[in-house]
Amino acid sequence: MNQLRAFHRDPLAFFQSLVGTHGHRVRFRMGLWTFYLLNDPVSVHFVLSHHTRHFRKGPGLEDSNPLTGQGLLTQEGEGWVQQRRRLAPAFRRENVDAMIPWLDQVFDEFQSTLVPGQLIDLESTMLHLSLLMALRTVFGDSQVTLSDVHAIGDNVQWLMTHFYHRSRSIWRFPYSFPAFNRRYHAHARKLREAIHRLAPETRPYATVWPGLAADPIRRDHEMLTLVIAGYETTGHAMAWALDLLSRHPDIAEHVINESYQSQAPDPTTHPWTHSVVNETLRLYPSVWLLSRRPLASVTVDDIHFNPEDIILISPWLLHHAADWFDEPSTFRPQRWMGDWKPIPYTYIPFGAGPRVCIGQHLALKEMLLALSRFMARFDVAVSGPRAVYPGLTLNARYPLWATIRPRT
Ligand code: HEM
Repeated sequence: MNQLRAFHRDPLAFFQSLVGTHGHRVRFRMGLWTFYLLNDPVSVHFVLSHHTRHFRKGPGLEDSNPLTGQGLLTQEGEGWVQQRRRLAPAFRRENVDAMIPWLDQVFDEFQSTLVPGQLIDLESTMLHLSLLMALRTVFGDSQVTLSDVHAIGDNVQWLMTHFYHRSRSIWRFPYSFPAFNRRYHAHARKLREAIHRLAPETRPYATVWPGLAADPIRRDHEMLTLVIAGYETTGHAMAWALDLLSRHPDIAEHVINESYQSQAPDPTTHPWTHSVVNETLRLYPSVWLLSRRPLASVTVDDIHFNPEDIILISPWLLHHAADWFDEPSTFRPQRWMGDWKPIPYTYIPFGAGPRVCIGQHLALKEMLLALSRFMARFDVAVSGPRAVYPGLTLNARYPLWATIRPRT
């Protein structure tokens, strides 16, 4: 019971204390379940990459989810293989590069909503930008109005919070009993309606739309998955990146200098901005916890897993381990310059192996572009205390209040 309480109170501190006391592979009981917390590159490689056919996604990511269960994040087996193949072309580097004009247009629209000098909540502002980007990359240039964005954002946030609490609760009424899940069904319906209003009639070039399933229910699950998976992850990471830059003016200076170049940003033309993105995702990996369940009994290295066990791998914990990173808690984008590379399977903001994030090139491009454009035009000053809140993604515990002023 104590373990459960400690986990609910502060999961990151709880994990850190387990690893500090028992080493990088910890077996512990919590409630009725046996958990394994794996925090070393060998076991991460085994579970995520090498022995992947022995594991399925863990609690909270079941394919029975009525909203997104048939989407890429939660599908398993042959259904997942087919879907990944169908959607992969849209997320290849060349296609993502072709999306840059959409993304630039989104940034211009977003910028016009900012009021210089006003105090803003940086997280919700960046979530708004990332939602606009996610919608444009799925639907193309359809008429995405501000009220669509608010309707989708509010409903996604409500539903994500609902799924998060449901995954931690022992009382779960099946969704097939609408009387017990009225609010869930109302939010899910509103989200589907808002998404349907955006569906384009043609198959716009350089978007994700052409790869989606033809079957309407499956297509709903697939597109909602992509919007949901790309929205909060990228939005929170962009907010943390701007917060870090506001606290490190010397690094911000390099990013600003790079932002005056006319080319679309990429790692070779904007090495500092690229390093800031990498370092932000190291310190604040939006997906701070991955989970898997063995499909049958399996022995990996020296550990024997039973089918009912739950395996946890925390990108946050790996990224903050002094065994894998020098000065792990320090923001030091310089570490990414030159030939330096992290030890394989110690830096996994996008996961690893066959189920690695399909949107990683897109997310990196969005972050690079947003940071560069933002820093070229605005000076950002963030105030107040900083602490993380590990919800479904890694959020800020207290609002990141920021003042933005046009750069002169
Ligand atoms: C900074 C932003 C992002 C981060 C940190 C992130 C992180 C991750 C991680 C860690 C996984 C692996 C989950 C697991 O193994 O259980 C994942 C999977 C996934 N991500 Fe992302 N993601 C980001 C942005 C995006 C974007 C922009 C999209 C799409 C538009 C996206 C779509 C997906 C999908 C569909 C999967 C499931 C892939 C599969 O199982 O085949 N993500 N993401």
